[in-house]
Amino acid sequence: MGPVQIKQILQSTEIGQTVEVKAWVRTKRESKNAIFIALNDGSTIHNLQAVAEPGQLPDDTLRLITTGSCLRIEGTLVASQGSGQAVEVKIEHVQVYGTADPDEYPLQPKKHSLEFLREIAHLRPRTNTFSAILRVRHALAFAVHKYYNDNGFFYLHTPIITASDAEGAGEMFRVTTLDMNKPPRTEDGAIDYKEDFFGRETNLTVSGQLEGELGAMALSKIYTFGPTFRAENSNTTRHLAEFWMIEPEMAFFELKDNMDLAEDFVKSVISTALEQCADDLAFLQNRLAEEEKNKPQNERSMPLLEKLKFVVENPFERLTYTEAIDILVKSKPHKEKKFQYHVEWGIDLQSEHERYLVEKHFKKPVILTNYPRAIKAFYMKLDEDGKTVRAMDVLFPGIGEIIGGSQREENYDILLERVQEVGIEPESLWWYLETRKFGTAPHAGFGLGFERLVQFVTGMGNIRDVIPFPRFPKSAEF
Ligand code: 4AD
Ligand code: MG
Repeated sequence: MGPVQIKQILQSTEIGQTVEVKAWVRTKRESKNAIFIALNDGSTIHNLQAVAEPGQLPDDTLRLITTGSCLRIEGTLVASQGSGQAVEVKIEHVQVYGTADPDEYPLQPKKHSLEFLREIAHLRPRTNTFSAILRVRHALAFAVHKYYNDNGFFYLHTPIITASDAEGAGEMFRVTTLDMNKPPRTEDGAIDYKEDFFGRETNLTVSGQLEGELGAMALSKIYTFGPTFRAENSNTTRHLAEFWMIEPEMAFFELKDNMDLAEDFVKSVISTALEQCADDLAFLQNRLAEEEKNKPQNERSMPLLEKLKFVVENPFERLTYTEAIDILVKSKPHKEKKFQYHVEWGIDLQSEHERYLVEKHFKKPVILTNYPRAIKAFYMKLDEDGKTVRAMDVLFPGIGEIIGGSQREENYDILLERVQEVGIEPESLWWYLETRKFGTAPHAGFGLGFERLVQFVTGMGNIRDVIPFPRFPKSAEF
């Protein structure tokens, strides 16, 4: 189907065969003896070199072959003279599909800053860095589906438009068909959503978990993998307004089973990326090394591939929130008042605290459990002490929280109390509460932020660089 991709051509050993290549020009170089065109079609980080003799191509055509132009080349596969590749194409015919005027085309064969590339999101997939990231992202997404499929989970499609606020954090994008310039009003002046398409107030989903729980109460093991929306005004390198989340939900799993699954799952998909994306990861590793080359040796991070292998091969550290607070209180930065936020039992851990635990204290991924009930969502199962809940957060070096999850409250009365405690109308969650009335069961689940995983695996510092079209405050140009 379609033309043979450069990835396959580069692996071919059939010297002498005729090939047809359709690709974009990365560079053109003319020497006394030959014209070299480096071609890339996005199938691999490596370029295919196409070679013509001087004078072979009409001047009119040669002029149009510039960085960014798109070509169809017919030629013969020959053994390459140069180093770095086994084969190259000896050009017989060139057709120019599309030109790219060098005075206008923003991607020139030089290093562009990530900030600049973010402004040209429509073209940045044509760079080595972004095409590598997108291929790794693809491999990870596939590995996620394969992992769950192989382990007896069913892919459940949960709604994007929903009436519930699963996290109870109020960070939702409204969805409405009402004319907001003159919305219908009820007698007391409130917007009357009964007139809306859905007949009620709706928003974009902040998590598929609640619907996922309904699925687990029927199919035992499900997972979701879909777009997730948070209208939080966070301009950080770890937050997006639209991100993709993977949420497995399992009947008959308790907190420990949940931790075991989370650890096995991330290790499995990272090792798949190591196997399948070796060339792209090696390229990204070099990019990082280049970025850090001016730093003193002791401030440089572990080489990317080494870091990924380390995570796959070593057990994650597991401890409770209370134990973590103890460590933080006894830590040097706390004693020397170097933390920006004060540490005491009950606080929501800040990124500086998480980083200290993961990067300075344990130097490996950490799973923190049993957080205070007051700082976690209403659906988490209450511990016997009544003070903490069976929550778990997985913290990664350089990333912070990559996974958030918990065992769920399966007791109807306690859950109802918790719902009321956080100010949610129980009627709005009648369907959720009913699962605790009919055949309730212990169950647990978690959510992995897909972009944070892609960030970790590619070593990219900013989450906006691991999703093709990032959505963040004031971003949506197209
Ligand atoms: O911790 P969170 O908010 O948990 C939930 O949504 C649960 N319902 C998950 C569950 O138990 N099924 O989000 C889960 C993960 C975080 O750990 C983080 O990796 C990612 O989602 N995340 C974000 N990623 C990018 N941008 C944002 N604004 C994110 N908010 C959360
Ligand atoms: Mg969380």
